[in-house]
Amino acid sequence: MSSFDERFKKAVRENFDASVEHYERFEQKHHLFENLTYKLVEIMGGMEKASRVLDVGCGTGISTYSLYKCFGDNCSYYAIDISANMLDIAKNKYADLGNFIFIHGDAENLSDHFIEKFDAIFYTASLFLLPDFKKSLHQALTLLNNRGKIAISFYSGLSDMRGQDLIKKHFEGFSYRYGAFGLPDLIKWLKASKIKNFTTEYLFQAESEFLTEFLTIPAQAAGLFPRQTFNKQVSLVKEFVRDLYSFEKDTFMKWTFIVISS
Ligand SMILES: C[S@@+](CC[C@H](N)C(=O)[O-])C[C@H]1O[C@@H](n2cnc3c(N)ncnc32)[C@H](O)[C@@H]1O
Repeated sequence: MSSFDERFKKAVRENFDASVEHYERFEQKHHLFENLTYKLVEIMGGMEKASRVLDVGCGTGISTYSLYKCFGDNCSYYAIDISANMLDIAKNKYADLGNFIFIHGDAENLSDHFIEKFDAIFYTASLFLLPDFKKSLHQALTLLNNRGKIAISFYSGLSDMRGQDLIKKHFEGFSYRYGAFGLPDLIKWLKASKIKNFTTEYLFQAESEFLTEFLTIPAQAAGLFPRQTFNKQVSLVKEFVRDLYSFEKDTFMKWTFIVISS
């Protein structure tokens, strides 16, 4: 693993460990991650009789529980996350559900944790956080049943209504990467590896309060303004959101859904 990859992963783990309360509060109010999971399932065309699914980067279990609501009781739900604190919340919340198995581990080492195959593997708002996404996806492909699918929700940033990136448009010189790599890297790799897939974009209008609360989740704030104290990050986020809405009243949040067939 390169030293960039190691540092990036360590920062992600620590940032999410520090994000639990903000993350839960944000989600209870806005239901973003729940709705993204429903949208992803809808876009992949559902699944006939899924009996084993895997949620990669399950966080506090919001996505895992949303998958449960889609696929029901007769399915086993495996979920993995690198942040022990996020995972502890998931375990506590869903301790009563016998068919949930939460695992503390790195999504780039899926083969260390799983042998049996899955009907579907979900990367719910997590793939862009994996520096070696290729390694993870390679392993996920070997863990798929014959007609299995990998479904990914990929954060593609903030845009105007035509999909143009608002940071590039209004904040020249501000270097902000939404994750460890960009969507074009993923698309290029899928094409070069001849992996069957389809992608679709999902844009929705983001109010300034929603965006402020999203960007002040510690893991987000640290991505936007690294190497600052959290208090400083919060005030920089507020300033950033104020400036953004003064340039662009209609701000959209953009997600890309990618579905891979085995
Ligand atoms: C934006 S959160 C999404 C959480 C959850 N899927 C949801 O929809 O609420 C991203 C999650 O990916 C996890 N993550 C990041 N890198 C990871 C890695 N290398 N292995 C496993 N989990 C990882 C983070 O700890 C975090 O909980």
